[in-house]
Amino acid sequence: MLQTIRRTHRCGELRPDHVGQRVLIQGWAQSTRAMGGLSFLLIRDRSGVVQAVCDERSPTEALAESEKVHLEYTVEIEGVVAMRAAPNPKIPTGLVEVVAERITILTRTPPLPFNLDGHTTVNEDLRLQYRYLDLRRPELQANLVARHRASLAVRRYMDSEGFVEVETPILTKATPEGARDYLVPSRVHKGEWYALPQSPQLFKQILMVAGMDRYFQIVKCFRDEDLRADRQPEFTQIDIEMSFVRRENVMELATNVVRLLWKEIGGHEVGEIPVMSYTEAMDRFGVDAPDLRFGLELKTLNETVSETTLPILRSGMDSGGLVRGFCISGQGEKITRKVLDAWTLFVKRYGLGGLLYAKVGEPWTGPLSKLEAPIQAKLAEIFGAKAGDVILVGVGPNSNVNAGMGRLRAAAAKELGLVEAGFRFVWVVDFPGFEWDADNSRWAAVHHPFTSPKPECIGWLGTEKTGDILADAYDIVCNGYEIGGGSIRIHDPEVQSQIFATLGLSAEEAEKKFGFLLGALRHGAPPHGGLAFGFDRMIMLLCGTDNIREVIAFPKTTSAQDLMSGAPSEVDPKQLAELAVANVLPAAPAGTNAQE
Ligand code: AMO
Repeated sequence: MLQTIRRTHRCGELRPDHVGQRVLIQGWAQSTRAMGGLSFLLIRDRSGVVQAVCDERSPTEALAESEKVHLEYTVEIEGVVAMRAAPNPKIPTGLVEVVAERITILTRTPPLPFNLDGHTTVNEDLRLQYRYLDLRRPELQANLVARHRASLAVRRYMDSEGFVEVETPILTKATPEGARDYLVPSRVHKGEWYALPQSPQLFKQILMVAGMDRYFQIVKCFRDEDLRADRQPEFTQIDIEMSFVRRENVMELATNVVRLLWKEIGGHEVGEIPVMSYTEAMDRFGVDAPDLRFGLELKTLNETVSETTLPILRSGMDSGGLVRGFCISGQGEKITRKVLDAWTLFVKRYGLGGLLYAKVGEPWTGPLSKLEAPIQAKLAEIFGAKAGDVILVGVGPNSNVNAGMGRLRAAAAKELGLVEAGFRFVWVVDFPGFEWDADNSRWAAVHHPFTSPKPECIGWLGTEKTGDILADAYDIVCNGYEIGGGSIRIHDPEVQSQIFATLGLSAEEAEKKFGFLLGALRHGAPPHGGLAFGFDRMIMLLCGTDNIREVIAFPKTTSAQDLMSGAPSEVDPKQLAELAVANVLPAAPAGTNAQE
């Protein structure tokens, strides 16, 4: 018989006001309990759950049908709302229940692959494989709703500030953002390829040349890079560009977006956001996206330990190494040998030979206890260390020490519960423009190559001061996550050509790769700048998770697979032939990770 959709209420809506009303609800059976002549079903839809009961007030057919309902069956229940004899304060509908008069099973499910109660720990791969079940969980639905509300709020705000949302192409030419491109072969132009955009960078700049003045877009970007808990191969940006601006204008606009989202979605007031130079961030925290929710600041110790004969420090310093460390106060008891061994392995991942440490006391213990007494005293003084504190030190090449000790700082704070609740934001500015790529003996852009040097540094391009050039770039960081970044762009085609030359591109190569941008810049480009937020990362923080997959409906695993649909997958050889493409290597056996 044809079912008519006649839902009168959503499950989560029912309250004592509805008592006595005849209602029809539809949803999934979240729990079932039958006990001889009495049965309880907890019915869930997106709005919440409500209890339905079959008892002496219900027809016997309804009771019989209720006993056939298993977990996650889809059901329709018609009945009358009544007060519950035993209220359940844990659910918003807990004062009432629906006394069932008719129960209809709409669809069935085989036994569930995992428990959806949210309390049981379930292997994430299994959850991703059955994402349609996983997404029924209220926590994940709330994340998707938060995401929806955030994108609405952003669109409303950007519109009110005169920004126009413009869509840019997905099948396009490579835009360098530092990752590998996803490539799409052209069937029509055999042997030629589109790249999926790593960001709409060049298009948004060209929209400024085109006079759009203020652009934004909530847009998918694609990057084939090593994935982590806060990275996806396809992710969403709130992409922004403005004409006739200085960096302060872009930073103010972006701060407003952050304030709006944290207020509307997180109920949190974001105050003044401090601004810190890249140099200060590296100096105090070892990383350019510092987490300010805890102390444990790094100190450079080369001078303090310059006189030591302790072999590891001596040889490290003699070969030009940096010595940096931090002190954890009052946690000596918790920082056991096992913890220190794990931290040693942790810093080794960043290229350090090991971790030097001391538990401060009478006497010190650990490798740093072998330091000469006066040097121990100096070290204790620099950190203000007292008995019960632990000093951790790394030695090696600058970038390894900063990365290893900077990341250990954050990992240790989390492990020891030293992270204060809430959100701490910081703008990081004045990044170096270029870094020397020793492998290829040339300069590489720290941000993308369309970033303008700060005005006072433009004249240094092509001189021996190239390494000192500061970029007119800025990143916004929340709780140690880079949630957005941008820059003032080059609008002078001559300067843009000079930058390409600095990066080792010949004039012909620059014209071939970026001729369309240079062409646009030659046709009256306004001064312009912008920024892009990592939308998924913002939602991740707002939803209180540190796993980006929890805020994306259909995410990929860290090995870039969609376990539900089975992408990536082999394709029909005919399709490849049509594209004039051939597989050079046989496909890896199912379930293996090509990156490993
Ligand atoms: P950038 O490369 O810094 O800048 O990217 C902007 C922001 O996007 C987020 N993000 C990611 N989020 C999830 N998964 C990823 N793989 C990923 N990669 C980046 C980060 C980052 O801050 N075109 C420039 C912006 C500009 O100059 O206007 C750009 O894309 O939160």
